[in-house]
Amino acid sequence: MENLLSSRFNDVSIPENYVFPPESRPGNLKIPFISNIPVIDLSEAQNDNRTNTIRKIIKAAEEFGFFQVINHGISMNEMNEARSVFKELFEMSLEEKQKLCTSDPSKTCKMFTSSVNYATEKVHLWRDNFRHPCHPLEQWQHLWPENPPRYRECVGACSVEVKKLASRILSLICEGLGLKSGYFDNDLTGSMLLAINHYPACPEPSLTLGITKHADPNLITILMQDDVCGLQVFKDGQWIAVEPIPHAFVVNIGYQLEIISNGKLKSAEHRAVTNSSDARNSAAFFVAPLDDCIIEPAQALTDEHHPPVFKSFKYKEFNALYFAKQGDTEVVLKSFEAQKN
Ligand code: OGA
Ligand code: NI
Repeated sequence: MENLLSSRFNDVSIPENYVFPPESRPGNLKIPFISNIPVIDLSEAQNDNRTNTIRKIIKAAEEFGFFQVINHGISMNEMNEARSVFKELFEMSLEEKQKLCTSDPSKTCKMFTSSVNYATEKVHLWRDNFRHPCHPLEQWQHLWPENPPRYRECVGACSVEVKKLASRILSLICEGLGLKSGYFDNDLTGSMLLAINHYPACPEPSLTLGITKHADPNLITILMQDDVCGLQVFKDGQWIAVEPIPHAFVVNIGYQLEIISNGKLKSAEHRAVTNSSDARNSAAFFVAPLDDCIIEPAQALTDEHHPPVFKSFKYKEFNALYFAKQGDTEVVLKSFEAQKN
């Protein structure tokens, strides 16, 4: 079992197999927050400003593929509890964490370092990751770790709240796209995977990456980050840094939502960089269709003047290709484009 970074200390330099080739290194790490991703106040959607909030969300999803939500209804207390449990998880003894590491692909709940391709990848990522499904809760919660002792209860409560938040955001998007009410309230959102990232402080942040440039393969992602910077979004050929806002969630459009919206909403590429002073944790809730769910551009958005840009496929077909091509956006999206006449 490879060494978890969270149980390795006192590195003064990084091992050679963590050094990215010059063209994919992070470069300038001090990106100012000049063109920050939009911040949406969800409390405004409850009153007369609903239409305006929807407009802001659609604009953010079109232009950035990313936005942050504040006043979203999940209590500070609940978020702080979850954050502290995530922190405790990676602070457990190596022995305790190794109980969660497994190379058995049938295990749905697993901790690993870098990526699941550790054995074959050329360069490793400066992160540890722990992931498991979290919806429907009754199906998965009993498979989660027994330690930290509060994990099941606290992460369970948080998952339920985040799933509700995702549904609220999707219903605003649904209305903004002009789809029939409840469009996403079915197998399109039948699963949710929680992936907790731990990026230790890194002695050479300019040479390595926490996560390489990618867009998320699922429908929509709700990310809870802590107060340390690291997430960057690729927009118009440039990296922009996402400023941590206390108690906000970062929301990003996944490939499936780009496809269902017939290319109107964008699944933006993003990455995570490291820094030399602070460890960073993030928790990504990936809301995703069930494996056999059919994905295609919504019929309400296509007609003879707006032909479907993508073909129809099963979500599991997309996932298989995404993982085989290691998330190469161009190749993956091209493979699911509709045939032109
Ligand atoms: C991811 C991701 C970003 C972050 O897990 O897909 O993009 O800030 N995470 O950890
Ligand atoms: Ni991502």
